[in-house]
Amino acid sequence: MQKITSLAKRRGFIFPGSEIYGGLANSFDFGPLGTELKNNIKAEWWRRFVKTRGDMVGLDAALLMNPKTWEASGHLGAGFADPLVECKQCHERFREDTLKKKNVCPRCGTKDSFTDTKQFNLMLKTFLGPAEEDAATVYFRPETAQGIFVNFKNVLDTSRKRVPFGIAQIGKAFRNEITPGNFIFRMREFEQMEIEYFVRESEWEGHFERWLNEMKLWIKDLGISEDKVHYVEIDAKDRAHYSRRTIDIEYDFPFGQKELYGLAYRADHDLKAHQEASGHDLSFTDPETGNKFIPHVVEPTFGVERTVLVAMLEAYHEEEAPTSEKGETESRVVMKFPRWLAPVKVAILPLMKKEELTTMAKELYSDLAQAFTCDYDETGSVGKRYRRQDEIGTPYCVTIDYDSLKDQAVTVRDRDAMTQERVGITELEQYLKENLN
Ligand code: GAP
Repeated sequence: MQKITSLAKRRGFIFPGSEIYGGLANSFDFGPLGTELKNNIKAEWWRRFVKTRGDMVGLDAALLMNPKTWEASGHLGAGFADPLVECKQCHERFREDTLKKKNVCPRCGTKDSFTDTKQFNLMLKTFLGPAEEDAATVYFRPETAQGIFVNFKNVLDTSRKRVPFGIAQIGKAFRNEITPGNFIFRMREFEQMEIEYFVRESEWEGHFERWLNEMKLWIKDLGISEDKVHYVEIDAKDRAHYSRRTIDIEYDFPFGQKELYGLAYRADHDLKAHQEASGHDLSFTDPETGNKFIPHVVEPTFGVERTVLVAMLEAYHEEEAPTSEKGETESRVVMKFPRWLAPVKVAILPLMKKEELTTMAKELYSDLAQAFTCDYDETGSVGKRYRRQDEIGTPYCVTIDYDSLKDQAVTVRDRDAMTQERVGITELEQYLKENLN
């Protein structure tokens, strides 16, 4: 973890939030490379689960919703609260269920000094209106799912979709977690990619299996080692009362086996609750049979930051790389991201900082940047520049040398195999497209 957090900061993936003001506990900002990585994840997820499927549509609901939403969904109640204890000695607060020793404060070591357990609600409050005392209390959404449920009828009426179909959303969610931590694993502000898939009750099991399979394929394409992923069937006593099946998809993080994603059968619980609370009819009428019913829901849910973290953990490699024909080596850090995920796809490197080479390299950069996320680097030895690109996971480095001026060809170096190939400039874009896909 230490190596990942330090590389993340050093190379501009992820910075501590508000750093120049001493930070804000457990908040993080995504830097230039982290933003590219996150965007690649979200764009591929959207392409795969929304754009290329006739049974899916997208939504982008507001972060702040009418508080009645959270009364109906149960989020303002005990079901969305964690057990909180406070050390009477040092006043640090802890989530009781995460304490290793129930009677010793992990901060100051005092024994038997905890207060009685209180249920602490995780909803993050704010105020709407000009004067705080008169303003309405509202809550930042703790999940993107409810924005989908309250818009179910709007989407149904405007998209002409028929059950089974799904609504997807990517966006921020907020939870006042008692103990955020482990870098970007548990945050108070994070992003979710969620799908609510609406089905007939009699068909939920088949859809559940299909979504489980989709999630497995997604995990495979992220380059995650299968043996580090665990599909944990949640016991009836630990599931929400309305759910007949929930699977937590867990991963062997350096700090233990923890939840990465989830897949839940939510029955008709959410739509029914919103129908009752709002008085609006949230049923679907089958156009063929005339049968009217409230659809049941299968929900695959994915955390964006946990995806970033797992992608970085899996990509990180330290290895010996040859530096000469004579078999000398030096160690290199290389982020072996799957190519589609790599934040920078191609680096353009003039062999030396000489005008005739840099002019040609800059022209090439402008052309290639139309098709790929590119980097341009002219400082330091080529060996050092290769290492810099390895460390951020760039699949291809393109070097322009004096021969390039004569033969209009460049050297393309492969990140993983470290092989080098001479490619004509007119064929370069096509060559990169084929290899990057
Ligand atoms: N709509 C269902 C739902 O929100 P959840 O298991 O509470 O279920 C879904 O959250 C996913 O969101 C998790 O699997 C995880 O990937 C991510 N997630 C939840 N809480 C998080 C937090 N505090 N920080 C970062 N990611 C979080």
